Amino acid sequence: MDRIPKHIAIVMDGNGRWAKRQNRPRFWGHKRGVERVRSTVEGCLDLGVEALTLFAFSTENWKRPEEEVSFLMGLFVSSLNKEVKRLHKNGIRLRIIGETGRFPQQLQEAIIEAEMLTQHNSKLFLNIAANYGGRWDITKATQQLCRHVAEGKLDPEKVTSELLHQQILLSDLPEPDLFIRTGGEQRISNFLLWQMAYCELFFTDLYWPEFDREALKVAIDSFAERQRRFGRTGDQLKAESK
Ligand code: FPP
Repeated sequence: MDRIPKHIAIVMDGNGRWAKRQNRPRFWGHKRGVERVRSTVEGCLDLGVEALTLFAFSTENWKRPEEEVSFLMGLFVSSLNKEVKRLHKNGIRLRIIGETGRFPQQLQEAIIEAEMLTQHNSKLFLNIAANYGGRWDITKATQQLCRHVAEGKLDPEKVTSELLHQQILLSDLPEPDLFIRTGGEQRISNFLLWQMAYCELFFTDLYWPEFDREALKVAIDSFAERQRRFGRTGDQLKAESK
């Protein structure tokens, strides 16, 4: 594999349906989902991917039954506590992106601890999107620029997409170049809307608990075969690569 994406973004979908197919409760699927988080992180480390962003909980997920939401919160806390040392040992920097202020206190504390412990690592940038929405991200960035204008520090005529980009989450990382969604749906679901402007999209019918390292390789192989033109012609690209 000679073309490895720099930044992979994943919507991990299908835990519930995977469990149901085996007459198990949805919780079972989420638990098995955590194992796939581990194997995907390690797969990315081994392949030299620079950044991995996983959608763990959207702003819409609060609408799920109360007991499922609280199970997921507990699972996030126990996974963080269990995995953080291993992440640190592997040189991984963990960041949680989203409105974490709405999470239970225990989860907020586990997040701060994990982020502090791993803050100087750079072998893989692992971002977990939790209570995240792409429109929320863009709105927050816009508010920040508006503040600068209101304070007289910024001329509205000088607002550029680069300036806005600097206020968007993960602007210090390469933009996602491969988006993967498991579970058979072909939607972006308000994930990294700004960041994925030029991203290659890959959809698979596999449910998230089935997404093993082989499946990751299939997605990366598909990415490697695609020609990314960024608006230019194929001939231009050929000439530039000579
Ligand atoms: C989507 O499956 C999955 C979620 C909403 C939760 C994602 C959580 C995990 C993979 C486990 C924990 C993750 C971390 C980062 C520790 P679904 O429930 O929407 O499945 P369905 O579409 O079949 O109902």
